[in-house]
Amino acid sequence: MSSLSLTELDKRHLWHPFTPLDLWLDEAHQPIIITRGQGSTLWDEKGQAYLDGNSSIWTNLHGHARPEINDAIKNQLDRIAHSSFLGLSNELAPRLAEKLCQATGLSRCFFSDDGSTAMEAALKIVWQYFQQNGQVERQLFLSLDSAYHGDTIGAMSLGHSPVFHRHYGNLLFETYKFAAPSRYCCPWNSSNPVREEDAVIVEFKKVLQQIGPRLAGYVLEPRVQGAAGFIMHPPGFLEITTRLAREAGAKIILDEVMTGFGRTGPLFAFQHEPPTRPDLIALAKGLTGGYLPLAATLVTEEIVDGFRGDLSRTFYHGHSYTGNALGCAAALASFDLLETLHHQTHRERMGKWMEQESQVFLTHPQVGNVRREGTILAIELVADKTTGQGLNPSLRTAPKSVRPPSVTDSSLVRWAMSFSSCLPMAAQTTKSSG
Ligand SMILES: Cc1ncc(COP(=O)(O)O)c(C=O)c1O
Repeated sequence: MSSLSLTELDKRHLWHPFTPLDLWLDEAHQPIIITRGQGSTLWDEKGQAYLDGNSSIWTNLHGHARPEINDAIKNQLDRIAHSSFLGLSNELAPRLAEKLCQATGLSRCFFSDDGSTAMEAALKIVWQYFQQNGQVERQLFLSLDSAYHGDTIGAMSLGHSPVFHRHYGNLLFETYKFAAPSRYCCPWNSSNPVREEDAVIVEFKKVLQQIGPRLAGYVLEPRVQGAAGFIMHPPGFLEITTRLAREAGAKIILDEVMTGFGRTGPLFAFQHEPPTRPDLIALAKGLTGGYLPLAATLVTEEIVDGFRGDLSRTFYHGHSYTGNALGCAAALASFDLLETLHHQTHRERMGKWMEQESQVFLTHPQVGNVRREGTILAIELVADKTTGQGLNPSLRTAPKSVRPPSVTDSSLVRWAMSFSSCLPMAAQTTKSSG
């Protein structure tokens, strides 16, 4: 065993995601090394407790070390951890698929490993669907300004982040972007429900007139764009734009990787009123309650029908760990917890509590806006409260205000907390981690 400390080993051999190397390797920087978790509290190797304020990057739903999920994984481990899903099935994946289909109203489930791969699968399914069903001209995807859908090439191409895309321009394919209305500081600035006659919808219709016949898919995070800076769309935007895009012949791809599993209130964000009809939904993060990497792309039977017939219509796509049995066991146990009435009422109570308690942040001179959707709370830091002008990213204000310091450039001007639904008030005595 190495005589080096964990910090030394980490700094010598690791490369952390979305983390500027020089800041991480700076001698003065002491990484937080998590060794244990219980509920919404994390502990580091020195015994210091932290509130897991972003629910371990929006994955955790029921808290850490939840006995029901621990037991489900342990039981499955004694049977088998993993077997190939290519041409084979397992005991749990069909049960999980049934639950997901019933909960979303879609009819078939394609498993993969994480949010990016769930989006990548959605993208390729839609592309191949049109290519082999007589609409080869439908090759364009429409997504939202500042969108983030993951880091694989396809998922990145759907995104529009100047910071993340800086070095990849020629590697990505072209997609069309549209600026969604936000409840704070945007050209369409609006908290009111969006109506058909509003300028934003008139503009959306113009875009569809231009690209409608070439459009394969309209891709968006319903209601809340998370990594984009917790842009919260006013009600109506999702329903009206998805209806119009569908009328133009596009498939509707909803990325519920972050919003899924109760974060915004209902089980899925597209289930808010007024209702929306997706063709595909990507799920990951909360699918296993924050325990294991498992993702799903749900599709309608109409799309699946487009893949039936001779061998050439096969979807030649998948991963070695698809349908992983341990992940499915965690997901089924998490689902059972989610479906209890207690969980739903607790989510509602938590949301209201967050709304009340967070108002105090508005008195801070650099907080421009506090907004909430379900149990997602966003606190927007600004340079000028009256104009809403953002902070200068080079000042790195957000990382200085919160720990850990590995926050990304995109969150320099905005940071948010998406609490796990079981947040105990013991958190008041701990140090905030996010
Ligand atoms: C909306 C959304 N889609 C996709 C992804 C990518 O998921 P993953 O990091 O699991 O690949 C993320 C990750 O933050 C996300 O927020």
